[in-house]
Amino acid sequence: MTLDLAPPPTVRPLSSNALRAIVRELAESPQEWIHRVRLDTEGRWYERLRLAEDHEVWLISWLPGQSTGFHDHGGSRGAFTVALGELEELSLAGPDGGLAVRRVPAGTARAFGPQYLHDVRNTANGPAVTLHAYSPPLAAMSRYELRAGGLVRTAVEGPEQW
Ligand SMILES: [Fe+2]
Repeated sequence: MTLDLAPPPTVRPLSSNALRAIVRELAESPQEWIHRVRLDTEGRWYERLRLAEDHEVWLISWLPGQSTGFHDHGGSRGAFTVALGELEELSLAGPDGGLAVRRVPAGTARAFGPQYLHDVRNTANGPAVTLHAYSPPLAAMSRYELRAGGLVRTAVEGPEQW
């Protein structure tokens, strides 16, 4: 008898382009998800649409004023697109690492790498619905606060918290 001591196969993450294509394609097929959308006055509403070995897809709704706060994606890369409404994305991508504010209107898809941090918010007057893909599937996320010296990590969350 031989023991198989090979390490578990590591999952090769999908590319930014592949993730962007996944969310764009889904946004163009609202019949696959529109009936699932809920709105929650307590906070963003979300539901996982797909879980595969190498990626996952989430559907999120945002009422005006709802936001994520600054967070990372635990080393996963990702992409999101706004299917309905409009969002605003804050990152430290401005000149000298300063705060950059980006409008993300419906039809826009954004992709990001494994080290990316952002704060996404609905500053519009109406609800927004977005589709998000992560690869590999999210294992943890850290939350950050923007202070005078920059972003400071304040919490780490696992899947049991979302
Ligand atoms: Fe994010």
